[in-house]
Amino acid sequence: MKIALLGGSPKPNGGSSAIILEALRASFAGAAEISAASLLRDGPQASLPPLYGAAAWVLAAPLYVDSLPSHVIRFLEETGEFFERPENASAPRPRLYAIVNCGFYEARQNALAIAALKLFAERSAFPWGRALGIGAGALWERFSPGSWFTRGAAGALAELARDALALAGGEDLFVTANMPRLLYYWGANRSWRALAREKGLKPDALRRAPYS
Ligand SMILES: Cc1cc2nc3c(=O)[nH]c(=O)nc-3n(C[C@H](O)[C@H](O)[C@H](O)COP(=O)(O)O)c2cc1C
Repeated sequence: MKIALLGGSPKPNGGSSAIILEALRASFAGAAEISAASLLRDGPQASLPPLYGAAAWVLAAPLYVDSLPSHVIRFLEETGEFFERPENASAPRPRLYAIVNCGFYEARQNALAIAALKLFAERSAFPWGRALGIGAGALWERFSPGSWFTRGAAGALAELARDALALAGGEDLFVTANMPRLLYYWGANRSWRALAREKGLKPDALRRAPYS
């Protein structure tokens, strides 16, 4: 069986979505033929043909302003148009699985973006697989998937991987960091302040709202 992994983060290197997809790739090893595309680097048009023919697509994307990054939305629009063309209308659609990670601690922040993906699947006649919303997603960039802090989300990811291999569906999964919310915010604020210092900024600069 062929499974396509779609990277939805615009980050050229690293990033939580890429790390999450690498963890998935490891759990698919030997059980499926994997193709992968970065939706920004490869572009919607370029990335579509190699993905076509996969039994499942697993899209991993960050949450951007309660939605998906614009290039992911463009990819979905172009994909919908591709499958609507008369010559492709009866082509088999891959089953769609989605993993959305966000900066906030609460995994439910990802629910709206997941709802948008389900709507896309419904409108474009893609069979729906399953979704996983991950809170405190930034931790994936700092700690390995096997770490204590990401272990809850890693367990949910393994569940989604099992479902994708079986082309099965299931309830949405929402999982956050294995640490108290206050500790996450304390750590996040600390790293924002350290980044500001590194860039020669005072902590007050973090409270500026230049476009408001
Ligand atoms: C432009 C932009 C918008 C964002 N909007 C949200 C948001 O609405 N809610 C949230 O919880 N996190 C938001 N984030 C944080 C990202 O979702 C978070 O850092 C995520 O872990 C990035 O994933 P990636 O490394 O795969 O790109 C935003 C980040 C950026 C750069």
